[in-house]
Amino acid sequence: MASYPTVFEPLQITGSRAFPNRIVMGPMTLNQATASGHVTDWIVDWYERRADGGTGTLIGAAAFVSQNGRGWANAVGIADDTYLDGWKRCADAAHQHGALFGPQLFHAGAASRVALLGHDPLCPSEWTREGFDSARAMSVDEIEQVIADFGAAAKRAIDAGSDFVEIHGAHGYLVHQFWRRDVNRRSDRWGDPLEFPAAVVQAVRAQLPAGTPLLYRFSIHADDPNAPNHPVTPRSLGDFLKRLESAGVDAWDISCWHEGKRGYFGTDRRLPDHVRDHSKLPRIVAGNILTPEDGADYLAGGHAEAVALARALIMDAAWAAKARSGHSDAIRPVLGDSWRTINQGVDPGT
Ligand SMILES: Cc1cc2nc3c(=O)[nH]c(=O)nc-3n(C[C@H](O)[C@H](O)[C@H](O)COP(=O)(O)O)c2cc1C
Repeated sequence: MASYPTVFEPLQITGSRAFPNRIVMGPMTLNQATASGHVTDWIVDWYERRADGGTGTLIGAAAFVSQNGRGWANAVGIADDTYLDGWKRCADAAHQHGALFGPQLFHAGAASRVALLGHDPLCPSEWTREGFDSARAMSVDEIEQVIADFGAAAKRAIDAGSDFVEIHGAHGYLVHQFWRRDVNRRSDRWGDPLEFPAAVVQAVRAQLPAGTPLLYRFSIHADDPNAPNHPVTPRSLGDFLKRLESAGVDAWDISCWHEGKRGYFGTDRRLPDHVRDHSKLPRIVAGNILTPEDGADYLAGGHAEAVALARALIMDAAWAAKARSGHSDAIRPVLGDSWRTINQGVDPGT
């Protein structure tokens, strides 16, 4: 029975930090926090079970860095020091089982609602994201405050014992909204699509001890040159990666949603293959990697240095341990929407 040795090799991220193996739990918002976004026992247990199950590195759920960056009810925050103890409990739970832990630093931007915030959501420019309330353009002071909030949140994460932090620059939330030229139509300095993401990276980097990995998650809103909404091109992707790497990113977390195997930019090459054209940093890839075979194939094909799993780790907290011990046939499969009970607080993974 296969035991996938390559999947269980450590991965050096910085000179002094290595992931224990190539299996990363992708960030997942599970809406099990308190109304104010504080970590609960449920959340600590959820991380502990995945660490105990052999996952080498856990990326915590998207945690709002500012109160005006909340995206969902009962989602976690890291916006002031009252949140610190909860994150310490998560890091401790991971460390007990030899796993690394770090939160995903997040601001929802336009992807929010008046009912949650008590005011209009914020955005680089006026914009209504489908399914959300209309957002208003941020003032320069508000932009500078949010950048400072990302830095303060990174410091809190480190004080809580995190091994790394990740910036959520994907999925159409605030950092991504600044990169999108169809959303960011500002005429000031912040209208340069790379300026805000780079400033956030610098603010976070400034708070991290030397050698502490800074991960950056990004996704691409459109790659078809005929798309009407300013698609990303290989060239604009290259500019983005080079700028953020020089600002202080140590590894890419490339989010392909469920399209990790499709070709991008009209070619048959996957998105992480295009990333490699511009950056030598380690690539963690998320996108429909469900079985140990999927993960091993992805690594063997040279498309990634680590794989991030989300639904597979909802369905089976011991996914990694089972793969390693040759019992991958005992892994509970991701079937249709079977994983969705997690949203009601039912953990189907143990
Ligand atoms: C319940 C759930 C919550 C998620 N929350 C986040 C999140 O907080 N931040 C993020 O970047 N991605 C989030 N994602 C996306 C996953 O991290 C992952 O990229 C995506 O599910 C594709 O991976 P998979 O095919 O292994 O499920 C979430 C996914 C699920 C299923």
